[in-house]
Amino acid sequence: MSLELRAITKRFGGLVANDAIDFAVADGEIHAILGENGAGKSTLMNIVYGLLQPDSGTISVDGKELTINSPLDSLAAGIGMVHQHFMLIPVFTVVENIVLGHEKTGILGKLDLATAREEILRISREFNFDVDPDAIVEELPVGIQQRVEIIRALIYDAKVLILDEPTAVLTPQETDELLINLKKLRESGKAIVFISHKLREVKAIADTITIIRRGKVVGTASPLAEQSELASMMVGREVDLKVDKEPAKLGSEVLKVQNLTIQDHTGRILVNKISFHVNAGEILAIAGVQGNGQSEVAEAMLGLREHVAGSVRVDGQEIIGKKVVDCLDLGIAYVPESRELDGLISTFSIAENLILDTHMGAPYSKFGRYFPEAVKKIAQERVAEFDIRTQSVSDTASSLSGGNKQKVVLARELSRLVKLVVVSQPTRGLDVGSIEFVHERLVAERNEGKAVLLFSTELDEVYALADRIAIMFKGEIIAIAEPTISREELGLFMAGVSAQKEVSA
Ligand SMILES: Nc1ncnc2c1ncn2[C@@H]1O[C@H](COP(=O)(O)OP(=O)(O)O)[C@@H](O)[C@H]1O
Ligand SMILES: [Mg+2]
Repeated sequence: MSLELRAITKRFGGLVANDAIDFAVADGEIHAILGENGAGKSTLMNIVYGLLQPDSGTISVDGKELTINSPLDSLAAGIGMVHQHFMLIPVFTVVENIVLGHEKTGILGKLDLATAREEILRISREFNFDVDPDAIVEELPVGIQQRVEIIRALIYDAKVLILDEPTAVLTPQETDELLINLKKLRESGKAIVFISHKLREVKAIADTITIIRRGKVVGTASPLAEQSELASMMVGREVDLKVDKEPAKLGSEVLKVQNLTIQDHTGRILVNKISFHVNAGEILAIAGVQGNGQSEVAEAMLGLREHVAGSVRVDGQEIIGKKVVDCLDLGIAYVPESRELDGLISTFSIAENLILDTHMGAPYSKFGRYFPEAVKKIAQERVAEFDIRTQSVSDTASSLSGGNKQKVVLARELSRLVKLVVVSQPTRGLDVGSIEFVHERLVAERNEGKAVLLFSTELDEVYALADRIAIMFKGEIIAIAEPTISREELGLFMAGVSAQKEVSA
């Protein structure tokens, strides 16, 4: 079977998310779509899957033009999709999830539980998926949940399988397993559309790579192309994938965390007695799969959490029990994971957001009076320094793109006098150009002698920046490693399966 898209165009208001896109994939082929965040990948696939309607263009299967009004049409045409966010009901079993979806569609006639269970076992055996039809979905690791989604598509007899950023939620080992499974699916004759912004994976799996940028196809490439070549096609200019970094010049200990324990309001332990330190002049990265307690630890660094025990000292001063403003006064810069929710006030202007923490002091206000001109002038300097793309500093923060929002938060936080920089997922959702900028800034802070604590689930980021790597698993730090640790070993720690437990604080 072959799937062919011709001149697909989709607008959202004034934005052209897909601009006359041509694309084709055939049986036994893995065709990757590579593009930065916001390039238009999900939009294109949602059109193929019937979740969005194109403004113009055609979709053909085996040379026949189709109208796809809903996922039912695309399923009936043999197109299945595994979404970026799974569409499974967590409290149901695997087989229940699969039959439930089916009742709504009825494409293959009646599908009862017993038949579905057999089908799941058959597919699972054929592709070595190791999925138990009676397992409760929420109790399964994410990698297995993803296989359930794949099985669901296969039960509908999908010949074309679309996977939208399937590795974003996986550990490195789970990613490897997925890639192996996709190769098996290719051997069995499926056509696979693999969407990603990660160069390494695309090179590892694709037969052909189509690169899209700002809604347009900018070219195709072979998987043998250099990463730097793919990156510059994706971004539209030369990019430096490596962060230049001199050896760390360690200063005194700035942050000391001892036996930090965090509970939720029901008393459940989220973080269990972790200890680590960060010196001036180094970057300590806390790595791990999302949801292993990292976010809670990050929040505790600024007194943002309740039910915290143990000790967190900045330059010898205890911060547990202190108010956020007092933590900031101790010299902590804090870039939160969710900049939209915690980092910015979206209805305030960019200028106001740039001075949120410091607006009580000179030169912005004096004796309770506020000097907007001074705010504006400093804001303009920061906008230039951090290359924040905006028409005017008076525009609201909500008008900025993700990367520029992040730069506003960074500009504000790094412009204060700080000793400790805490950043959580600092480049999540950013384009490659902005990632480069943020990385360079963080290394500059370290070189200036600040202690940098980085929380990141992106391994490329961890390797690019870290002087030491602490790995969290189920609320504990299960290892602290040198950045020379192999991806494989780091992945094992992230999955909690390494027997080694040499933890040194
Ligand atoms: N429903 C929508 N309404 C308005 N804009 C949208 C919508 N969906 C996507 N966009 C915009 O379209 C562009 C492409 O988005 P998307 O297809 O999600 O990109 P990708 O999957 O490559 O990250 C982005 O600028 C995004 O903000
Ligand atoms: Mg997407």
